Amino acid sequence: MDRLQLSSIISVLSSLTSHPLWFVASILLYLVVRLQSKSCWRPRDCPVDLNGKTAIVTGSNTGVGRYIAQDFARRNARVILACRSEERGRRAEREIRQRTGNSNVHLRILDTSCMKSVREFADRIQREERRLDILVNNAGASGLPTAITPEGLELTFATNYLGHFLLTNLLLGVTVNAVRPGVVMTEIMRYYGLHLRIIFNLIGFFFFKSAEEGAVSSIYCALSKEMEEVSGKYIDSDCSLSLPSPTAQDAALARKLWEASATLTGLSEDGTGETH
Ligand SMILES: NC(=O)c1ccc[n+]([C@@H]2O[C@H](COP(=O)([O-])OP(=O)(O)OC[C@H]3O[C@@H](n4cnc5c(N)ncnc54)[C@H](OP(=O)(O)O)[C@@H]3O)[C@@H](O)[C@H]2O)c1
Repeated sequence: MDRLQLSSIISVLSSLTSHPLWFVASILLYLVVRLQSKSCWRPRDCPVDLNGKTAIVTGSNTGVGRYIAQDFARRNARVILACRSEERGRRAEREIRQRTGNSNVHLRILDTSCMKSVREFADRIQREERRLDILVNNAGASGLPTAITPEGLELTFATNYLGHFLLTNLLLGVTVNAVRPGVVMTEIMRYYGLHLRIIFNLIGFFFFKSAEEGAVSSIYCALSKEMEEVSGKYIDSDCSLSLPSPTAQDAALARKLWEASATLTGLSEDGTGETH
């Protein structure tokens, strides 16, 4: 964006905010949105200690995942940061150790868009870890260019869904739930154009959740008493049990998606992880 465009955005914003009514209405709207976005469940009121337990958080070098991993580390868990970048992952590993005083936080490389990487990661976890108690499939991206990966998969579909589908099937057979973090101010807009990023950040500064707030629904799912034994459910950003979209409730479609996912990732239909 050039200086002219930037100054025109600033002048539009300053003329809007200069009107007293607009100013008061904005403050009121801000307060309403902030109060509504607050979850009634607060991680700091939850006394759960994770000493002796192991948790994996994918995409935990920044954003929501970073705060989820930090919460688990604060509760004395062994935390595996599953990140694709050695450099960003090491930085997060160092910072989380410093902030929580827990040195049992470890980076392991995982690229969810690459099924080979997912299988190597899962193999290493099975070789090295004695147990796995929590898996948070958090890694994701938005606004990626349309592209096909070297394995022949659509890039966004592979990154956000197929990688986690395969990983979950290779590692787990326990309770599984889906969560919505809400609209959160993170690096999620990094693949969009500058204009859209500026608008997102301007609006988000006032109205969206912080990354720490966005982590709450995932932490709730993993730790809360209410979610013990609960599986196959959808948890909204305020930690309430909700119905997913009608499409997601279509059992026949879900079956088709499962079969297509098993074929695309090479997972056998019974979920044993054997390739075709
Ligand atoms: N922010 C929102 O408003 C919002 C709303 C709904 C859902 N979500 C979901 O919440 C999750 C966390 O997003 P966020 O807002 O925290 O975004 P973010 O700040 O962009 O963080 C995304 C994380 O995912 C990692 N990642 C991306 N592609 C990956 C890949 N192929 N393999 C491994 N890791 C990968 C990133 O690693 P790098 O740093 O190396 O790229 C980063 O650690 C995502 O699944 C997102 O779709 C977010």
